[in-house]
Amino acid sequence: MLWGGRFERGPHPDMVAFTRSTDVDLALLPHDIAATKAHALALLDAGLLSADEQKSIDGACDDLLARWERGELVPSSIDEDVHSMVERLLTEALGETGKRIHAGRSRNDLVATDFRLWCRDASAAAIDELRRLIEDIASFADGQAETVMPGYTHLQRAQPVSMGFHMLAHGFSLLRDAQRFVNAHRSANVSVLGAGAMAGNTLGIDPEIARDELGFSSVFDNAMDAVSDRDFAADLLYACSTTAVHLSRLAEEIVLWTSSEFGFARLGDDWSTGSSMMPQKRNPDAAELIRGRSAATIGDLTGLLVLLKGLPLAYDRDLQEDKGFAFGALARTLESIRATRGVLGALRFDKDRMAEAAGASATWATDVAEEMVRRGTPFREAHERAGQLVRRYESGEDIVEEAFGFPESSQLDALKRRSSWGGPAPERVREQAASLRKGTASLGA
Ligand code: ARG
Repeated sequence: MLWGGRFERGPHPDMVAFTRSTDVDLALLPHDIAATKAHALALLDAGLLSADEQKSIDGACDDLLARWERGELVPSSIDEDVHSMVERLLTEALGETGKRIHAGRSRNDLVATDFRLWCRDASAAAIDELRRLIEDIASFADGQAETVMPGYTHLQRAQPVSMGFHMLAHGFSLLRDAQRFVNAHRSANVSVLGAGAMAGNTLGIDPEIARDELGFSSVFDNAMDAVSDRDFAADLLYACSTTAVHLSRLAEEIVLWTSSEFGFARLGDDWSTGSSMMPQKRNPDAAELIRGRSAATIGDLTGLLVLLKGLPLAYDRDLQEDKGFAFGALARTLESIRATRGVLGALRFDKDRMAEAAGASATWATDVAEEMVRRGTPFREAHERAGQLVRRYESGEDIVEEAFGFPESSQLDALKRRSSWGGPAPERVREQAASLRKGTASLGA
């Protein structure tokens, strides 16, 4: 028991079960050990541990880490959380010396430190996964720069684009997500050991020692803020949420494209499921689950923000619930990014069908109006005349030659004409793919 001194009786077993957090926070164990090693150095510096004591704590921490990596460490029924567990194990290993480690430290600054270390790793892992997906998308775009398809607004065929161009639009939104993870990494990268319970300590602990040891980029400014701040976790969950939203939009389009109604693509056997009842079915379940699981991630962000809303300073036990949101959201994010890569790699496009869809529904109408503008007609008048051509086209007349003033050009030619900055012309798409790659290469973190 960490706080027995002023109590006559121990806690009710239901209270123990209700408040314990080892089921969730055990994942922080390696970080708790790192933070403990760093704190021991600060205690050494403050003259509160001898060099031998600090060395034995350091060695015992290394042993614990090795046992953890071998899967040998399990919480005991008396451990309230991962922090009390690590302290117990150190005390079991070292006796008196183990009892010295918690001087000038509180679980409040300790859990914030562990969680920051975890969030830093989490951001780096998400950036890595996103980088792979974005690189896949850039290569995909190069390969599909001439695969004509209709671009949509209001889910109505609008203007001719290419599959490469379309996919790059997803790629750039994912690049912004990766940048959000860089930002989350930055906000987690502050050392808070030395903040104590919320008002520091009287022991002369130098916070720079832990900062240096744990590789944080700076030290907290205000001890009360340091133990109550979870903005870094909210930043991480926001990055997970926008990623989830973006993946869900891509997943939804894959669901549409692989439907018989669109018929733009077929999903390979390895990323499709059949139906237990209907033998003809080929279902895009992975894409549907990418879309569906985004709900829980948005829920995790919302859950954390609601947890923090109105919470008085500084530490409140409510904060123990923060980790579940983050752990769930990160795991889901990494899995969904990997599944998206799998699904993308399994798509086989029906190029004729896409080109035909791009040519039908008069997606050339804007081009016709713009051609008239080039020849001096005011745009409003050109729009009106092109609209009349569309009407004649829809009633079966062959107006294309009249419209463009030259024999019907191919859909690919129509695409090539859209060479404005950021547009879908193949050479523009290749430039965009290159700049997307450049963006991922310069992400850092
Ligand atoms: N298990 C707690 C958490 O995750 C650690 C801090 C507990 N602090 C306290 N004063 N009870 O937030």
